[in-house]
Amino acid sequence: MSKEKILQLLRSSRTGFVSGADLASRLGISRTMVWKHIKTLEHEGFGIEAVPSQGYRITLTPDLLRQADIKQGLKTRTIGKDIRLFAEVVSTNTLAMEAASQGAAEGTVIIAETQTGGKGRLGRQWISPQGNLYLSVILRPNIPTHKAPLITLVGAVAVASAIRKHCSVPAAIKWPNDILISGKKVAGLLTEMSAEPDRIRHIALGIGIDVNMELQELPQDVRMHTTTLANEAGAKIDRKALVQQLLQDLEHWYRIFLTSEAEVLKEWEQLNMTIGCRVTVSGMGEIFEGLAQGIDQEGRLKVALDDNTIRIVAAGDVTILKR
Ligand code: BTN
Repeated sequence: MSKEKILQLLRSSRTGFVSGADLASRLGISRTMVWKHIKTLEHEGFGIEAVPSQGYRITLTPDLLRQADIKQGLKTRTIGKDIRLFAEVVSTNTLAMEAASQGAAEGTVIIAETQTGGKGRLGRQWISPQGNLYLSVILRPNIPTHKAPLITLVGAVAVASAIRKHCSVPAAIKWPNDILISGKKVAGLLTEMSAEPDRIRHIALGIGIDVNMELQELPQDVRMHTTTLANEAGAKIDRKALVQQLLQDLEHWYRIFLTSEAEVLKEWEQLNMTIGCRVTVSGMGEIFEGLAQGIDQEGRLKVALDDNTIRIVAAGDVTILKR
């Protein structure tokens, strides 16, 4: 695409400048076409200066994700082959479920800069201001329906790994799908599925990561328990590079999962901060306390109560009391 090529040439110019004539001849298009592409880039938020006898130069790069930038250098085969990027959607999960039912391929990624109706777990809202990451990945695993919750665990392993690598911060998983740093939530996952009794049609693996937003954007009660990657790392985070790392880690762990669930469970245990802790579990109309002993082969949490009975928890909220 000529517009992307122009951007690439401007970005890689040693002096910063590339003349209109040079751009036109390298792309095999007219100077008027070059000018039109420059105008489109400006419309997308780039600042581009035109200096007589020197050419064009980028003066401002918008802090927005761009599909072509994410794709460039992305080392995946399936996840992210088709990336659909939006300025604003109701929910990337809703869009991913719709796209999947219309035949979108496995690995299709829906990303948005903001969501007006972001969905959290247990029917909650996921507040989605600018500056973070909101994405959903379409998956079509050939596994029995009751194993679907394991996909959330795959996602949690990928998110925690990508954050650790990209931001050098100690992200850990709180069962089932929260990612925490120093006890505060930085990311969450929401898996939605369309299935028949014995077959999964498709899954939308939704991931929300609080990256560069101002915490003031959140209501006081949520803010208290939330942090951002920028806060933890002490610097603004390159969201494009983080998405690329995330998609790569997701593909890596998803492939492993399809051949060896045990390996993913092992990695999940390495990255988790729940097992071995005293916890309270709430949310399914009751609340109880016990020792989080481990997860079973379907990703459910095993909690030993004080009378030594074991409760198997498929869904709920966990609060960690102490180690
Ligand atoms: C949670 O911790 O409650 C899960 C939050 C999941 C939020 C993500 S943001 C991208 C995707 N689209 C949604 O509407 N929700 C998920």
